[in-house]
Amino acid sequence: MAAITEKTGITRRKVQIQSNFERRAFLFMRLSGIALLILAVGHMLIQHVLNSSTNLTIMFVAEQWNSWGWKLFDFLLLVFTVPHGINGLRNILEDYIHNESLMKGINILLLIFVVATLLWAGYAIINFDSTPFMN
Ligand code: HEM
Repeated sequence: MAAITEKTGITRRKVQIQSNFERRAFLFMRLSGIALLILAVGHMLIQHVLNSSTNLTIMFVAEQWNSWGWKLFDFLLLVFTVPHGINGLRNILEDYIHNESLMKGINILLLIFVVATLLWAGYAIINFDSTPFMN
């Protein structure tokens, strides 16, 4: 909302500026959206269109994760998708839940979920050893 002061005729903004965290989260949604256009769309095309879903065995995964390039691709997919999806869920929940303490509790649970998922799934991708499957 903007108001023009009578004396000077200067327009002054009267919008409530949101916290830095919310601004960064908003920017993250846009930037991760761009990254997901390549990562998520690429993933769908490569894994589910170019390759038949019936071929998606552990051998297929082991062959891909024998390469650091594919590990990096899947790691980035993880790092962008999980916070993007959960922050999006948080935005939707905040539209409907107006109880501040309940929302605070939900935010803490969502944060724990994101951190735990990034840690265990990231660990699994980085440390996956293809050699037992490569005979
Ligand atoms: C091509 C891939 C994707 C693109 C380009 C994309 C882009 C975006 C953008 C720009 C927003 C912000 C909308 C706004 O603030 O008005 C958004 C919101 C959201 N995204 Fe994505 N996204 C993608 C994939 C995903 C995936 C894979 C998930 C789930 C894991 C997801 C879940 C959400 C959710 C829940 C919201 C919040 C919707 C809302 O506020 O109503 N998105 N997305």
